[in-house]
Amino acid sequence: MNPFNTETEKQYFYLDKCKEHVIELARQLGRTPTACVTTFGCQMNARDSEKLVGILQQVGYQVIEEETADFVIFNTCTVRDNANQKVYGRLGKLKSTKRKIPHMKVALCGCMMQEPSAIEKIRKSYSFVNLVFGTHNIFKFAELLYGTFVQDRMLVDVWEDTDQIVEDLPCTRKYPFKSGINIMFGCNNFCSYCIVPYVRGRERSREPKDILAEIKALVADGVVEVMLLGQNVNSYGKTLSTPMTFAQLLTEIEKIEGLKRIRFMTSHPKDLSEELIQVMKASNKICKHLHLPLQSGSTRILEAMNRRYTKEQYLALAKHIKEEIPDIALTTDIIVGFPGETSEDIDETIDVIKQVGYENAFTFIYSKRTGTPAAAMPNQVSEEWVKTEFERVLKTVQETARLTVGKYEGTSQEVLVEEINEQDSTLVSGRMSNNTIVHFKGDASLIGTLVDVYLDECHGFYYMGHRI
Ligand code: SAH
Ligand code: SF4
Ligand code: F3S
Repeated sequence: MNPFNTETEKQYFYLDKCKEHVIELARQLGRTPTACVTTFGCQMNARDSEKLVGILQQVGYQVIEEETADFVIFNTCTVRDNANQKVYGRLGKLKSTKRKIPHMKVALCGCMMQEPSAIEKIRKSYSFVNLVFGTHNIFKFAELLYGTFVQDRMLVDVWEDTDQIVEDLPCTRKYPFKSGINIMFGCNNFCSYCIVPYVRGRERSREPKDILAEIKALVADGVVEVMLLGQNVNSYGKTLSTPMTFAQLLTEIEKIEGLKRIRFMTSHPKDLSEELIQVMKASNKICKHLHLPLQSGSTRILEAMNRRYTKEQYLALAKHIKEEIPDIALTTDIIVGFPGETSEDIDETIDVIKQVGYENAFTFIYSKRTGTPAAAMPNQVSEEWVKTEFERVLKTVQETARLTVGKYEGTSQEVLVEEINEQDSTLVSGRMSNNTIVHFKGDASLIGTLVDVYLDECHGFYYMGHRI
């Protein structure tokens, strides 16, 4: 019989059991045990890592940045092969660290662990790893952590899928004034190059009341900006027992008193509704920024990618959004080197970049992901060709962005101050509503506040300014 009423209750039970073991470890070491969480990949992983940190702190670890801690966990990404290679590289280093610190425990979780080939490789070449789990059972972290205290051999617990959404577990935010919020999990789009639907499972939306309650609690705790997270936020709510649109959810979030800014990502162009555009237009809190992944400007390639829009439909959508919300910044993702792609296809992508005038575009070299339809396509393109074409796209992105980003020079804008500038500690850095970064003279007391800044000079993707 299951003695617990809810999964959350069960995890708190294991949390307490872990505490006892950490106290014992502290006694043996003569100091507080340390833990390190290293995050690879996207904002969803970053949010998941905050949950890992929350639990580690709650059981008594001091969380540090160094991978020489008593407990080290990698939250992995597998969207492109270089993400996997990074993890293997770091694991290689850990192997020698662990020789010097034999009581050290190493755990791996996240998207890469959902791939059987990765698990096989870890069992074979990195057998010193203590714990492996995936994306679907991250809520079990306290229970799995307990497992590492009571058993010596590698503990592997990876699920193929889940329909569970477990709420109310500890979480420690990286920033006191802003936070990511999961509004949905998984993805049903199956773009032909993409591994995310295989490693994150089917699309599931959280109940609006839970999202609203979480945001209210965050605001009460000092958060002024939220980032709503999902692989395709525009299809939010479709799987709920009482369906709700993303635009309706935004309208509810807007009403939360004390909340100043709302961001979200990512938007799939095929699902972006007129209702959303109108809600954004009327809103005082939704930031003037839309990340609208293009992937390719060639209709032929878009079809092979299973993106379900054409070049013309994308251009029409971008034009319409800019007409309705003139000061909006559009950013995008682009893939170069999809199977069968030619220089003519790249010309089409460059044409879209120029016509839309993105504030920024993240350009990626196509990476073959085993198990995706694109991996089995003929005409995989040569590395050399990709290199030249990638440079061509990048150059266009930089040239266009310089013009687009720079148009606010000589105006004043509201900036949310995020941190002390890394290079020059007399400066602080923050973001405008449209997500452009601004550096200006200031000190730590400004962090987390909204201030008006005059934009003196644009330097490519950012501004130098002064406070007014
Ligand atoms: N759900 C988001 C994207 C998540 S992955 C969306 O659809 O917009 C982030 C970006 O990684 C994608 O937009 C795409 O540009 C890139 N990407 C995904 N799979 C890739 C692959 N196999 N090779 C190269 N880039 C890829
Ligand atoms: Fe991947 Fe496409 Fe889903 Fe984005 S929408 S996560 S690119 S399958
Ligand atoms: Fe990577 Fe997983 Fe995000 S594969 S991009 S961490 S959803």
